[in-house]
Amino acid sequence: MTPMDRFRRIGRLEFGHYPTPVQEMARLRAYLGMKPRLWVKRDDWTGPGFGGNKVRKLEYYLSKALRQGYDVVLTCGAETSNHCRVTAALAAQCGLECHLILNPAAQGGQPASLFLDELFGARMHKVKDRTERAPELARLAGEMRAQGRRPMEIPLGASTPLGALGFVHAVSELQFQPEWICHSTSSGGTQAGLVAGLALFGMKETRVLGVSADDPAAEIEETVRGIIAGIELDLEAPACSLQGEVRVDDRFTGPGYGIPSEESEEALRLLARLEGIVLDPVYSAKAFAGLLAGVREGAMAEARDVLFWHTGGQLALFSRGM
Ligand SMILES: Cc1ncc(COP(=O)(O)O)c(C=O)c1O
Repeated sequence: MTPMDRFRRIGRLEFGHYPTPVQEMARLRAYLGMKPRLWVKRDDWTGPGFGGNKVRKLEYYLSKALRQGYDVVLTCGAETSNHCRVTAALAAQCGLECHLILNPAAQGGQPASLFLDELFGARMHKVKDRTERAPELARLAGEMRAQGRRPMEIPLGASTPLGALGFVHAVSELQFQPEWICHSTSSGGTQAGLVAGLALFGMKETRVLGVSADDPAAEIEETVRGIIAGIELDLEAPACSLQGEVRVDDRFTGPGYGIPSEESEEALRLLARLEGIVLDPVYSAKAFAGLLAGVREGAMAEARDVLFWHTGGQLALFSRGM
């Protein structure tokens, strides 16, 4: 069975535009005076709902919803959530009702994402803080079931084995094998998919560095390993065959979730000025700070090719100062 055969049984609706481009960042490399060639995979351009990494994950969920007759989707996150916004956009495209359980943005104000959630027709349910999200989601889904509806509950960030398949599949788009892939990590689905995908497509020498947006490294690493074990079941792969080294760097989280750090501000400005590429301040810019540290004095300094996987989220730039 080829790696692609393993996917054929699992339904996917393609909403994004693939393969997303890979660009070289030659001016940044020259500026840094570094040995590795630096590349960026533009998943900020996946498309729907202003793109980003969530599109790939939700393609599996929305496919399942339509195939299995769900009539409403529910998910949760902060008011700035890229995942919630993309869920709302794709649900609109599929003609499905969408409910979002949202806690206030870390920096207050009226985030741009929230405006778009409403524009996409999502129904919003506000909760006080993140601990109230999952119970409210379960309560609402229960209420809908009691009314005879078919609600699909999509967990935070769609970071489950099903959602992570989007990133297993994404690895098949790579035309060369970098020694390192660096990306933003939080609920773990992106990293789990990349690590499992590299194993599935025979690229185990490529190392993945997830740079935490918020949580401690050990916590995210454990979550990622758990999701990979679930992917093995979904793809009917032998146990442990898709596990690889799971590395998370949590040195660039700054004040915490949804808040930029000094290093993320530097990374954001540097990449914009040298390459005309825009990061978001609370996920991908923290990750890019991790890449800069890695190539400047860390483990990536001697590599030949380093790939930054841009996970999107730039709308957060427009939530500032409100
Ligand atoms: C822009 C962006 N980058 C990275 C991540 C992290 O991805 P994951 O939740 O799959 O770890 C998220 C979501 O949380 C995100 O919105």
